[in-house]
Amino acid sequence: MNGDDTDQDTTLDSQRFVDGADGDDEQLPSSAGGEGTRPEPDADGESADREESADGTEESTAGGEESTDDESPDPETTDAVDTDSASTVRDGVDSSGVDFDSASGDDDVDSSVLDDVMLDDVGSEDPEEASQGLFDDLLAGDPIFENKEVLRPSYTPRKLPHREEQINNMATILVTALRGDSPSNILIYGKTGTGKTASAKFVSTELESTSQKYEVPCEVEYINCEVTDTQYRVLAQLANKFIEKNEAVIDEELDDLEELRERAHEDPAALAETEYDSVAAVEDRIEQLEDDRESFEQVPMTGWPTDRVYSTFFDAVDYHERVVVIMLDEIDKLVEKSGDDTLYNLSRMNSELERSRVSIMGISNDLKFTDFLDPRVKSSLGEEEIVFPPYDANQLRDILEHRAEVAFEGDALTDDVIPLCAAFAAQEHGDARRALDLLRTAGELAERDQTDDVDEDHVRKAQEKIELDRVVEVVRTLPTQSKLVLFAIIMLESNGVHNINTGEVYNVYQRLCEEIDVDTLTQRRVTDLISELDMLGIVNAVVVSKGRYGRTKEISLSVPIDETEAVLLSDSRLSDIEDTQPFVQTRFDNEN
Ligand SMILES: Nc1ncnc2c1ncn2[C@@H]1O[C@H](COP(=O)(O)OP(=O)(O)O)[C@@H](O)[C@H]1O
Ligand SMILES: [Mg+2]
Repeated sequence: MNGDDTDQDTTLDSQRFVDGADGDDEQLPSSAGGEGTRPEPDADGESADREESADGTEESTAGGEESTDDESPDPETTDAVDTDSASTVRDGVDSSGVDFDSASGDDDVDSSVLDDVMLDDVGSEDPEEASQGLFDDLLAGDPIFENKEVLRPSYTPRKLPHREEQINNMATILVTALRGDSPSNILIYGKTGTGKTASAKFVSTELESTSQKYEVPCEVEYINCEVTDTQYRVLAQLANKFIEKNEAVIDEELDDLEELRERAHEDPAALAETEYDSVAAVEDRIEQLEDDRESFEQVPMTGWPTDRVYSTFFDAVDYHERVVVIMLDEIDKLVEKSGDDTLYNLSRMNSELERSRVSIMGISNDLKFTDFLDPRVKSSLGEEEIVFPPYDANQLRDILEHRAEVAFEGDALTDDVIPLCAAFAAQEHGDARRALDLLRTAGELAERDQTDDVDEDHVRKAQEKIELDRVVEVVRTLPTQSKLVLFAIIMLESNGVHNINTGEVYNVYQRLCEEIDVDTLTQRRVTDLISELDMLGIVNAVVVSKGRYGRTKEISLSVPIDETEAVLLSDSRLSDIEDTQPFVQTRFDNEN
């Protein structure tokens, strides 16, 4: 399961939103309210208000609607601390007569809440008087982060410690492209967070810049197959990219030719050093390029037959001489979703291309994905294989130290922080992404605590939070039947039943299905669903021997009960279940 890696950010942020709303309510209004009643700004505010009352009322309404909107565009600024306190202050300020800055109001209608809180500084000379002090307390502590972006998955580091060997292997294979031949196809394997994407992007940037330096036509196209997950989309994206590139090349040549034509008109000697022996020849070439340019047709997102998309891509790539490396990241997702046709088509292209050469670099999180490939595709794609092993705790520590230097203020981290993040992530199959998430989340928790430094405790809390976020995400996306089975287990546990067996789960499950009018599966299927929940780490099911009574499963919940129950009940189909609780409870009171 690696569904958590892409969603991590959003879940973290939304979680933070909920967290903060509870925790910060108590302290913020007091500081904000206290400042809000300060005499000077109020006086300023009131006079400004009176001067432009009619306009101002409208502005403040618009602003008010905006600030209660939960879906502010930038997740970074919707941190609960800001949003929540912003609306609190705004309300208080509104009623005391301070108005919104009507000069900027029109433009700001869809801007974030933060802008709305920057109230009425039009008439105020001194910028210190303009604010109500809302953020002063929050800013008062030493900042923890110097550049938080460096810890995000989207950031591509310039140095990748402990991946030198893999990067050199890739380079040794791909250097062929700079000599004008097609490199072997490469298959890269490794679990999530082992640096595959980061290394591949690093290598592709190097390859392209070197090709520019030596003026060898070599291009790299990166496609993330988790997003672009059908043959149509992959080919369409490639076709359109190469059409754009061809157009750029043509435009450049046209510019040169038109200039040459001008000069040749005035002085035919201008043609001396060129391949053209007359102005007419130049004009022919211009005409031809213009025709070519006309003939390119971008592939629409849907609607064409696949072979037309393929031939459009083929023609676009073969338009001029070059070596093309196509990086297909998360290639296992593509094969899982749409089979290996894309890979088959791409891997046999070279035998038909006249001017260009294509080579494929596939990146997979799933070590066994080639089992699903046609043998021809498998042998062609896996000409070279590079494995990315998991990082151990020491390597993770190095990686974190490099990043932390840029991400955090000088002395923001106490000594234990990085080793602990590294240790936790090493347990999580050596996942550098997890290590960085932990470090960033720990920093954010410290920031919220308004302490000056991040300590071990923040890391432990971050670990719990990330784990909980993962559980919430997994539970939320379970199919309804699995949710019902899980809910049955939760009901049994919360009624004090331990060592739950499958029969007990099935009984409660059946009742639940009746209650909310859902088809009931067989006990056998429910047993399967329990095994799936076990594999997802949501329940723990151990087979125990009951001597001559045979063997049975003993099931227990391995996730926090209250949070999990809340997630289940947030599903509209399950939300009615709450009412059945007393019924189930009596049932077990009787049985025990
Ligand atoms: N050796 C390394 N040095 C620095 N950062 C790394 C290293 N390996 C991975 N990372 C970082 O860890 C995160 C996950 O790496 P990524 O390349 O996306 O892993 P994968 O593609 O194998 O799942 C990214 O933020 C990446 O920058
Ligand atoms: Mg990746």
